[in-house]
Amino acid sequence: MCGIVGYLGDRDGLEIVLAGLRRLEYRGYDSAGIALAGDGRLEWRKKQGKIANLAAEIEQNPVPRTGTAIGHTRWATHGAPTDANSHPHVAEERVAIVHNGIIENHAPLRTELEAAGAIFTSETDSEVAAHLIANEVKAGADLVEAMRRAVARLDGAFTLVAVDAQDPDRIVAARRNSPLVVGVGEGEYFLASDVAAFIEHTRDAIELGQDQIVELTRDGVNVTDFDGGPAETTEFRVDWDLEAAQKQGFDWFMRKEIFEQPKAVADTLLGRLNERGELVLDELRMSPELLRRVNKIVIVACGTAFYAGLVAKYAIEHWTRIPCEVELASEFRYRDPIIDPMTLVVTISQSGETADTLMAIRHAREQQAKVIAICNTNGATIPRESDAVIYTHAGPEIGVASTKGFTTQLVACYLLGLYLAQVRGMKYGDEIAALLAELERMPAALQQLLDERQGVLELAEQLKDATSVLFLGRHVGYPVALEGALKLKELAYIHAEGFAAGELKHGPIALVSQDLPIFVVVPPRGRDQLRDKVISNIAEVRARGAKTIVLGDADDDQARAHAEVFIPLPKVSTLVQPLLAILPLQLFACELATLKGHDVDQPRNLAKSVTVE
Ligand code: F6R
Repeated sequence: MCGIVGYLGDRDGLEIVLAGLRRLEYRGYDSAGIALAGDGRLEWRKKQGKIANLAAEIEQNPVPRTGTAIGHTRWATHGAPTDANSHPHVAEERVAIVHNGIIENHAPLRTELEAAGAIFTSETDSEVAAHLIANEVKAGADLVEAMRRAVARLDGAFTLVAVDAQDPDRIVAARRNSPLVVGVGEGEYFLASDVAAFIEHTRDAIELGQDQIVELTRDGVNVTDFDGGPAETTEFRVDWDLEAAQKQGFDWFMRKEIFEQPKAVADTLLGRLNERGELVLDELRMSPELLRRVNKIVIVACGTAFYAGLVAKYAIEHWTRIPCEVELASEFRYRDPIIDPMTLVVTISQSGETADTLMAIRHAREQQAKVIAICNTNGATIPRESDAVIYTHAGPEIGVASTKGFTTQLVACYLLGLYLAQVRGMKYGDEIAALLAELERMPAALQQLLDERQGVLELAEQLKDATSVLFLGRHVGYPVALEGALKLKELAYIHAEGFAAGELKHGPIALVSQDLPIFVVVPPRGRDQLRDKVISNIAEVRARGAKTIVLGDADDDQARAHAEVFIPLPKVSTLVQPLLAILPLQLFACELATLKGHDVDQPRNLAKSVTVE
């Protein structure tokens, strides 16, 4: 939420920061702004709406070219998305700041600053930081010291980046509970919420830790802790390039990311089997003894990642017989959950920055539980604060709605479940090998679904005027139904709900009426009891006039016979079916939103990477 970019170097800061902001626009698109320091002057422009509005404003009111620039793209929290509430915030005409996060004690600070004569020009929590820093530099502190004194007074979450017109060859930033990475180029340096902002200039980056202050000057990068002491940082090289962060001919990042799923799944599976036929999870770095002692697993996540966790519960309990709970991170943190050192907490997060999930991790670790993160973003806060991590290898996910994030999270969950089963002696060589072999067939199966997409695209055309859509499933089909409904809500702004098919008769069937489209996920043959029940549920809604769209095994004639529209799925076992069943639902939502003329990559009110609770 909110994207921040900073540049210090000899090139045109305006162009570089604007381009960086465009790459981070998925993090928030309520407003955007930029500040430039040079020749003892500060220039800033800011504008409500998308970055295109800011660019138009700059065209009308040009700014001088300098090599010191900071920029911001906002997802509004405190204060409506107006020009005045846009960042940067400027104090004393010399200090400009941009902020991501929430300053929780902004109200008393504002009262105090106003009493001392500060003039506020916005309703934001962020502006207090500009005044605190400006007061310190006016009193003679350098920008680093001013930042240090200011952050000592702030509660909450923040990435703060500041420039001072009277010290234009310096950018200073502070980070607490909110993301910030440094890019290191040849004689030039970058700051950003996400490496995507500077990937076209450098792949060399520095990961900052919690409560650190970074200073960029022409001589390099200096990082200290909030007390001014030395700080530990990690250098890394980004393992993807600019091309991965571009649309490559697709109309939307989301569509491109749907199409990348065969590769993303294959990459997440890569190198998992050793020569003895054992499953290896090298990066896990958690001892088998410890994993054998675990007596309960709690999966914690938000949104789509939570639905991946719901699927994981079925697989993990089935393979390991360890009780497994799944909980929304926002609920887990504040309800005093029962966890102890024998509990394994598994968090799932594409971005690795989701605030609710991060707070849940901290709470779990305070109770001495071990935490494994499943994450797609190298070096993000969540993996850094966990005991171990399994990385998904989906590459950057830029569309706000998660797609390849979800399928690769499923793969990582299956791998973790199988690994636990292996370590605990519940599954042996041949069984593990057979299950892995099935997973290895998934990229081809996903490709087949992509090749056969025409029916789904036509369905979106047929249903584009629907005002309500239901999704039903049982067992692992239930989370697929929830995820299918979420995709449609967030992209097409249509009322959509996912239900456990068995719950239908306990209330939701009252919603069923003539022509209501209902998607139903039918389990593969082999689990016939389960499948028969779902087929009966389809019959029940059809009897009430619903239009049934059925996803099932390609050779399942019975399921086909109950469908007005049948979406054939390649044959797989029940536990793995969600990996395939979700793809047509992703495509359907993407296509329907496109037909409705919506911005698929940046749906209204949303932002990727929810860094506030
Ligand atoms: C929906 C979506 C969100 C995220 C959720 C968690 O399409 O993308 O529901 O899944 O905000 O995000 P991460 O996985 O980054 O923690």
